[in-house]
Amino acid sequence: MYSIEVKNLSFKYKNMKENILNHVNFQVKAGETVAIIGQSGCGKSTLCNCLCGLIPKVYAGELSGDVFIYGENIKNLSHAEIVRRIGIIFQNPATQLFSPTIEDELAFGPENLCIDREEIDFRMKKILKAINMEEYRYDNPNNLSGGQQQLIAIASVLMLKPSILICDEIMSWIDKEGKEIIKNLLLKLKDEGKTIILVDHEVENIQLADRIIHLGEK
Ligand SMILES: Nc1ncnc2c1ncn2[C@@H]1O[C@H](COP(=O)(O)OP(=O)(O)OP(=O)(O)O)[C@@H](O)[C@H]1O
Ligand SMILES: [Mg+2]
Repeated sequence: MYSIEVKNLSFKYKNMKENILNHVNFQVKAGETVAIIGQSGCGKSTLCNCLCGLIPKVYAGELSGDVFIYGENIKNLSHAEIVRRIGIIFQNPATQLFSPTIEDELAFGPENLCIDREEIDFRMKKILKAINMEEYRYDNPNNLSGGQQQLIAIASVLMLKPSILICDEIMSWIDKEGKEIIKNLLLKLKDEGKTIILVDHEVENIQLADRIIHLGEK
């Protein structure tokens, strides 16, 4: 079964004249790491937003075609069902972090899904250990480096145990050292069998992809 299947997907933002996505078709196998590349403005982030349901739930427009997540049409999945399957991480980690402590940040998503305290604590310890940031649990995310903030943004998504991760240019604001740490984490997640979608301009950042999808080329 495919983890993601995109069938004939087209999208036009409200008040825009032309479609941003035009009959996009592709499939991603479970456990695959796929890079999506294409010129700036070709619709990569728009596509990511379709894959995680932000379009049409948050951004309005005309959408046609279908996205299937493990064979289920995303149209038929609730927000809670989507976030348990797919996590999305954006370019600027600061937009994703809003809690006074890392502990609060990591607990926010699972608390909203009514996951019990013990389980949240168990997941948090495991994830903080995996990213080597156990000692930062009670710190304010604002005091971290960009690379560390991005790790926490990824960790907050991993708290919900999604099997698919969408990374929309997550390296762009990160220094060299931070990039190395994030790459290692992605490699680990790949080994664990997660499906990973990597959107990036830099060839260097998509080296761990099994294949590349070119968006917007006729
Ligand atoms: N919320 C929105 N409303 C209207 N138009 C939008 C919106 N978001 C993006 N667009 C437009 O849609 C087009 C595609 O944008 P998108 O962000 O998907 O491209 P991208 O490939 O991710 O670009 P980049 O590489 O610069 O991140 C752009 O022309 C952009 O201006
Ligand atoms: Mg983008």
